[in-house]
Amino acid sequence: MSKGIIIAIDGPAAAGKSTIAKRIAEKLNFTYIDTGAMYRALTHKALQLGIDMDSDRDLSKLLEETDIQLQPNRDGQAVIIDGKDCTEVIRSQEVTANVSQVAAHTNVRKMMVAKQRDLAAGIGVVMDGRDIGTAVLPNADLKIFMTASVEERADRRYIENQRRGIQTSLAQLIADIKERDRADSEREVSPLKQAEDAILLDTTSLSIEEVADQVIELAEKRMER
Ligand code: CDP
Ligand code: CDP
Repeated sequence: MSKGIIIAIDGPAAAGKSTIAKRIAEKLNFTYIDTGAMYRALTHKALQLGIDMDSDRDLSKLLEETDIQLQPNRDGQAVIIDGKDCTEVIRSQEVTANVSQVAAHTNVRKMMVAKQRDLAAGIGVVMDGRDIGTAVLPNADLKIFMTASVEERADRRYIENQRRGIQTSLAQLIADIKERDRADSEREVSPLKQAEDAILLDTTSLSIEEVADQVIELAEKRMER
């Protein structure tokens, strides 16, 4: 019988982390936890209430007062903030443009990491984000660092946006992704970086199926141990 293991997937924006994480979770019957959605949820609420994005104290207080639920559904995961379905709205350009600033704060991260560890306790999980293998779950059984060229990642987001009816230029997407990667990699607390024991997976020329197959194979090997 297969046992639940912990799979950590980190990497830059639009590398395919959540798409692949969802597939693996479905296939192995594990819980998928999208940690980026948690930072997006806090950013969305802060924008709505006009909270100062520079204030770790104000954002941490807001986080303390906010109920963020990740609920598995047909499409992967619904994000419920204070009882309201915010799955779509947390992907807005406004949230995307502000989330890295919110996520750079020391105390906000401390609180998020504690929540994320609680969510993963005692079950088989696939968690994706920026600091899962390095900070949230350093003892994960399998760590993947997923990348793709910035042009490929922007292309993928462009197609995704078109599907969702959102107008963006490819040049703007490239600039936004580069800037977010820079902010996430250069922040002081838990910056985006490959864990020493993570497997690097460059997905630039790989389809979703090819990447999912590779990760599932790696996961199954870990489960046999
Ligand atoms: O899906 P996408 O790559 O656009 O981003 P996301 O995974 O939803 O994450 C949004 C932002 O949250 C990232 O750009 C980071 O600033 C932050 N984040 C983080 O700092 N740590 C995590 N574990 C996950 C996300
Ligand atoms: O979670 P992350 O920001 O890393 O990326 P994502 O939201 O899972 O993927 C971004 C887009 O790339 C989605 O529309 C996926 O369908 C697409 N994708 C792809 O075309 N090829 C892959 N190998 C992986 C993802």
